[in-house]
This record gives sequence, C-alpha cells and structure tokens, in this order.
Amino acid sequence: MTFTPRSPLRIAAVIVALALPVTAQENTGPSTNVAWTINTLNLLRSGDPERGAKLNTKLECATCHGDTGLSTNETWPSLSGQPAGYLFKVLKDYQDNKLSGTDRGQLMAFIVEEMTDQDMVDLASYFAANPLPPAQPVTKQDAAETLDLLGDPKRLIPPCSVCHGKNAKGDFPDFPALAGQSPDYLKRSLNNFRAGERGNDVYSRMRLIARRLTDEEINSIAAYFAAKGTVLAQE
Ligand code: HEC
Ligand code: HEC
Repeated sequence: MTFTPRSPLRIAAVIVALALPVTAQENTGPSTNVAWTINTLNLLRSGDPERGAKLNTKLECATCHGDTGLSTNETWPSLSGQPAGYLFKVLKDYQDNKLSGTDRGQLMAFIVEEMTDQDMVDLASYFAANPLPPAQPVTKQDAAETLDLLGDPKRLIPPCSVCHGKNAKGDFPDFPALAGQSPDYLKRSLNNFRAGERGNDVYSRMRLIARRLTDEEINSIAAYFAAKGTVLAQE
C-alpha cells in the first residue's frame, strides 16, 4: 500500500509507534554534536531549497508543520523563517538522541532517523527562506516584554532579545526565532529546559534561564512571542 503525503493512516502509524514502549536514550556527552566548523558552514551553504520543498511533502513534514513551515495549530511548532543553522542543528540533535527526552522529542527522533545531512540542510534552507508566521494582534504582555527587552539582572536573566534577536526573529547561526511560534510549543520548550528534559542547548544557556522563570512568566512569554510575527520581526 502506498501512503499519500496527507494519509491519515501514515499519521496514525506514527502515533501508534509513539505509544509503543520506547527506551528513552540518555543524553550523555556534549549537549550537541554540531559544531560551527567550516565544513558545517559549507554544508549549510549547499542547502537546496527546491529539493527541501519536495522533501517537505515527500517525508510528510508538511502534515504537521504545514506546506511552508507554518504550523496549523498551537501545539506543533512553526519552522517557517527560522535560521537554517538552528533548523539543521535541531534536526541533527533529534537524530543523535540529544533531544529525545520527551514524547514529542521521540516522535521527531523517529521521523529523522533515516535522513541524511543533505536532506536536513535542504529542508532547513527551504523553511529558512519562507517568512516568519504573521503577527497576531498584540495583547500587552508586560512581564514577558520586560524579560525580552531588559531581562532581570537581579535573577541573572539576560534579555531574551540579546540572543533571539530584535523582535525575536532569530539569529545566526543557531538562535531560534520565537516570533509567531506556536504558544503551546513555547511553553513546552521552556518547561522542558527547566526540568532538564531538553538539554541540547550548548553551555546550558536555556536551561539556566528557564530554571529562573516562574509558571506565570512562562505563560506570559508564550502569549507574548506567539503574538509577534513577520510584521514586527521586519521592523
Ligand atoms: C506527526 C507530526 C510531525 C511530523 C510528521 C513532523 N514533525 Fe517535526 N515536530 C513535531 C512536533 C510535535 C515537534 C515539537 C517536539 C517537541 O515538543 O519537543 C516537532 C519539532 C520539529 C523541529 C524543531 C522545531 C524547533 O523550533 O525547535 C523541527 C526542525 C522539525 N520538527 C522538523 C521536521 C521535519 C523536517 C519533518 C519531516 C521530515 C517533521 N518535522 C515531521 C511534529 C511533527
Ligand atoms: C545567552 C543566549 C540566550 C538568551 C539570553 C536566551 N536564549 Fe533562548 N535559546 C538560546 C539558544 C542558543 C537556543 C537554542 C537551543 C538549541 O540549540 O536547541 C534557545 C532556545 C530557546 C527556545 C526554544 C525554541 C525552539 O524553537 O525550540 C525558547 C522557547 C527560548 N529559547 C526562549 C527564551 C526566552 C523566553 C528568553 C528570555 C527570558 C531566552 N530564550 C533567552 C539562547 C538564549
């Protein structure tokens, strides 16, 4: 039987696979195997967005992440407009079991198992070439805005914008964009960093920050960044 790209059967198969007992792989050793060497940068430059677009359909990424990398719900992350370096790193991290400590991480680890580095950079260059998700009407989120712009020196929290870029549009080589990201995904990532279930951040940068955030701040951060999008990011 052949699976069409949008086949509910194929998705069901993935979900069933997820329900099977999985031996969670320990993330031992360095937080990532990706280093920004000349070879890695050359590999990134070789990314072919047209092939990436085809792979997005063929490998069924589009089913969850959308045709252009724009998630259709609040739970699955958008990939559209993310820096290619970040996307490549995170796909390698899934494949190397650096990011498979959660159910959803295991789902992605399963999906990328057979992919080559070239598949990953081609997909990364395709999503990176697409715009960030559109901005939503902004409901003022004071706590999150303060953390984004000023951080909280008393708690040693640097401003998010120092690394995630102005208007959270991401930065070279591997700082992810937060603008327009699905709110559930933002919340989940921060909770995973805080609990140490996600540990693929070099130098524990995000784990250290997330540990200092309260639940209330995480909720406010998710709403604040989800509302940002292309319009604000281009200012
Ligand atoms: C069944 C749905 C599903 C499919 C199919 C799927 N993904 Fe995912 N993907 C997810 C979920 C859910 C997450 C978030 C995992 C988490 O919460 O840790 C994710 C995370 C990611 C991330 C990390 C996003 C970030 O901001 O860190 C990348 C990159 C990614 N997927 C790429 C792909 C690619 C490329 C494919 C196709 C080869 C693919 N995904 C197929 C559901 C899916
Ligand atoms: C010192 C730099 C730095 C600062 C400051 C910083 N971050 Fe991060 N953040 C990173 C890096 C690097 C990653 C990517 C980790 C990886 O490789 O997966 C990341 C990842 C994330 C992610 C996961 C995104 C995804 O797509 O999976 C979220 C959410 C996040 N940061 C939120 C924040 C918030 C909110 C703040 C401010 C309170 C903040 N960060 C401050 C460096 C930083």
